[in-house]
Amino acid sequence: MSGSQNLTATAYDQLSPVIAHRGASGHAPENTAASLRKGAELGATWAEVDVAISSDNVAVVFHDSDVNRCTDGRGLLIQKTARELAGLDAGSWYSPFYAGERILTMTDLLTLANELCLNLNIEIKPTIGRETETVWAMREALKQVPFNHTLLLSSFNVHALYAAREFLPDFTRALNVEAIPRDWRNRLDETGATGLHFAADFFEEAIIRDIHAAGTPMACYTVNDFETAQKLYRSGVKAVFTDYPERLILNATPVAR
Ligand code: G3P
Ligand code: MG
Repeated sequence: MSGSQNLTATAYDQLSPVIAHRGASGHAPENTAASLRKGAELGATWAEVDVAISSDNVAVVFHDSDVNRCTDGRGLLIQKTARELAGLDAGSWYSPFYAGERILTMTDLLTLANELCLNLNIEIKPTIGRETETVWAMREALKQVPFNHTLLLSSFNVHALYAAREFLPDFTRALNVEAIPRDWRNRLDETGATGLHFAADFFEEAIIRDIHAAGTPMACYTVNDFETAQKLYRSGVKAVFTDYPERLILNATPVAR
C-alpha cells in the first residue's frame, strides 16, 4: 500500500548476521572504544555492548558487576561515581598496548557508534534492583546524543525489559536467555520482547526450528567459528555474536598478526 507506514518494522529488519560481541573483544579490551573501532575495521556493521550505571546514575559500558577483571580498580561498579570510573584504566588488563583505554559512558558510546556507522545492540546489565534507574540513565544518554543508526535493546533481566518497554518504547527489545525456555512464547509476550537471544552451547534444533517457523527472530552468543555460525544460520538463527568478526564475515579485512 503506497504511502502507508510499515508499523511492524523492527530492528531485526536491519540486523546483520554478524554482531561484534562487546566489540571485537577477541582483539581488543571488551566494551571499549578500541574494541568498537576494531570491530568496524574488521567489517562488522553491528556491535553488542553491555550497559550498567554508576553510583550517580550515569550509564556506562561495562559487563561485570565489579571492576576487578577489566580495569586496574577494585570494587563494585554501582558503588563508584562516573568520575571514579573515568579514572580507571580499562585496557592494561588486556595488554600494555591498550593502557589508558577508558570505560565509555553511554554518550561516548553513541558518539563513537555514530562516527563509525555502527548499529548497536545494547544489552542492559543492571545491578539487580536498579533496573529502572539504568533504563532512565540510558534514556538520558539518548536525549543527549541522538543515535543515527539502529538500536536493539536486550536483557536477561525481565525488570529491565519492563522498564525499557515503559521508558524506551520505540526500540525493539530482545529477551536474553542461556537455554531456550519451553514457554519461550509466554516469556516474550510477558516482557514485550520481539526477539530471543540464547547461548550457542544450548543449541536444540527442534525448538529453534519452531521458533523460526513462528517468525520470532533469534540471535546466538558467543560463536567464534565459521562452521557453528553456518549451522545456526541454517536452523533459522538470524545473527550470531562473535569476538572475532573476521572469522565469520566472508569478505572480512584480514587481521594483521
Ligand atoms: O547479548 C549477548 C551476550 O553478550 C550475553 O552474554 O555475558 O556476554 O553479556 P554476556
Ligand atoms: Mg552482553
